[in-house]
Amino acid sequence: MKHFLSIMDWTAGEIAGLLELAAELKANRGSRRDALRGRTLAMIFQKPSTRTRVSFEAGMAQLGGTALHLAAADLQLGRGETVEDTARVLARYTDAILARVFDHHDLDRLTVGGVPVVNGLSDRLHPCQALADVLTIREHKGKIEGITVAYLGDGNNVCHSLINAAARTGLNLRIAAPPRFEPYPDILAAARDGGAEIELTTDAVEAVQGADAVYTDVWASMGQEDEAAQRREIFAPYRVDEDLFAQAAPDAIFLHCLPAHRGDEVTDAVIDHARSVVWDQAENRMHTEKALLLTLLGA
Ligand code: CP
Ligand code: NVA
Repeated sequence: MKHFLSIMDWTAGEIAGLLELAAELKANRGSRRDALRGRTLAMIFQKPSTRTRVSFEAGMAQLGGTALHLAAADLQLGRGETVEDTARVLARYTDAILARVFDHHDLDRLTVGGVPVVNGLSDRLHPCQALADVLTIREHKGKIEGITVAYLGDGNNVCHSLINAAARTGLNLRIAAPPRFEPYPDILAAARDGGAEIELTTDAVEAVQGADAVYTDVWASMGQEDEAAQRREIFAPYRVDEDLFAQAAPDAIFLHCLPAHRGDEVTDAVIDHARSVVWDQAENRMHTEKALLLTLLGA
C-alpha cells in the first residue's frame, strides 16, 4: 500500500512523474473529470487549514470524487476513540485518508486502516507543500535541478519537506536559521546522503546572496502560539524585507507556503512584489494534489 507521509517515501522518478501529471492537469483543467467518480477522500484536521482543505476538496470535486472534511474534535477521536480504530472504520467507507496532525506518529497509526494515507501537515513534515513548491520553481525558473533556494527562519515542517524535495529533485538549498531552530539533523543527513546540496548558516544575508529564490515561513507554527513573542525577537534578523530580497539574484522569486504573518517573517513590499509567486504556489497545491490522488488511487 502506497502512502504519502513524506517526500522521501517516493523515488525521484515517482516525484518527477507526479510533477509531469500535475503540469498536464494544470494545462488542461477540465481533463480527467470523471477519473475519481464514486471515490471518497476522508480529511481529518486536528489544526486549521485554508489551502490544504480547499485544494483537496476542490481537487476531488474536479476529478468527480467527494472529500469529507472531518474536524478531529467532531469525531469520536475527540472523545478518546483511538487513531487506529478511527482509521479501520474510515477505510470501510472511503478510499483514502488525508490528515493534518500534531504528532507525525498519528499518520503511521492511520495506515493500519488499509487505504492510502496522505500527510496534510504534521509537526515534522509538510510534503504536499513541497510538491507545489518545486512545481512553482520549475514554472518560473524553467528547471528545478541546480536552482538555489535560500530558506530563512524556522527549521520547521515546511523546511524539512523542502530538504526532502532537494534530495529528490536536485534543488540546492541554503538554509539560514537561528541556533536551536535548525532543521532536524536526521532529515538533513538523509537528504545529504541522497546527494542533496544543502548549506546551513545562521546568517540570512549569506544565505540569500545571489539565490534564485527566497523562501520563508511563519516564525511560530500552529501549536506554538504561546512562543510567538519570544520567537519574534529571535527571528527578527531573518525577516525578508526589500533590502534582504535585493541581495538575491536580480530575477529571484519569492516563495511562502502561506498563511503569512505580514510584517513578521515577510514585509508587504516583498510578498506583494512583482517577483513574489506565492499565489501561483498556493494554486499549485491543487494541481499537485490532483496528480497525487490520481496516482494513489490508481486512476
Ligand atoms: N500552506 C498550507 O498548508 O496552508 P493551510 O494551512 O491554509 O492549509
Ligand atoms: N509551519 C507552518 C505551516 C503552515 C502551513 C505550521 O506548521 O503552522
